[in-house]
Amino acid sequence: MTTSDPAAATPSASAAPPHPTAGAIVLHVNGEKHALTVDHRTTLLDALRERLDLTGTKKGCDHGQCGACTLLVDGRRSLSCLQLAVAAEGREITTIEGVAEQGRLHPVQEAFLEFDGFQCGYCTPGQICSAIAVIEEHAAGWPSAATADVRPEAGPPPLTPEEIRERMSGNLCRCGAYVSIVQAVGYAAEASRAPGAGATRVHGTDANREPSGAEEAVA
Ligand code: FES
Ligand code: FES
Repeated sequence: MTTSDPAAATPSASAAPPHPTAGAIVLHVNGEKHALTVDHRTTLLDALRERLDLTGTKKGCDHGQCGACTLLVDGRRSLSCLQLAVAAEGREITTIEGVAEQGRLHPVQEAFLEFDGFQCGYCTPGQICSAIAVIEEHAAGWPSAATADVRPEAGPPPLTPEEIRERMSGNLCRCGAYVSIVQAVGYAAEASRAPGAGATRVHGTDANREPSGAEEAVA
C-alpha cells in the first residue's frame, strides 16, 4: 500500500477528521491500494492526478463532455471528472498507467501505435481506456445506437466502422485522428477474437484473480 497521508494509514478511533469536509479513504488503483485524506468534493480525476501523481488520465473539459478523463472502474469505462473520489472507494480503478501487463503494452495500445491513432496524444489515454471497454462491451453482446437488430438472439453486431464510431463517440479528439482511431479499435477487436489471443481484461474484471501482495498488506 502507498500512503500519501501517513496519518490516514493508521487512523485512531478518536482522531477527528482534519476538516469537516474531508475524510480518509483508500483507493484501489492499478492493483495497488492508496490511503489518502481528501476533501469530499475532490473528483477522482483530481485525486489521481494531484494526489497520486497518476497524470496519464487527462483533464480536458472537466465537465463530462470530452472523454479525456476516461478510465476503467470495475472494468467499465467511467468519466473520472464526474466521479467523486470518495465514491470510488472500494472500486477497482484502472488508469492508462495500469493497462500494460508485465512490461507488455496492452493490445489496444499496440494497435494505436500500429495505426498512428493519435497526433498530440492528449486524448489518447481516454481513447485507449474507452476502446478496451468497447471491445469487451461488444464481445458481451451489448448493442449501441448504431445496432440495427438489438434482439438478444441476434447476437453481437459486426463491429463495423459505424459501430466503432458510435461506441467511441464520447471521446473527442481535437487533432481529428478519428480515421486512425477507428482502424486501431477495429484491429484490436479483431485480434482479441483470434484463437489464442490474450485476454483484454484489466484490473477489476476478474473476480477470481489472486490479491496482490499490496492488497493483502492492507486487508
Ligand atoms: S475531462 Fe472529463 S469528460 Fe472532459
Ligand atoms: S491526438 Fe490530439 S487531441 Fe487527440
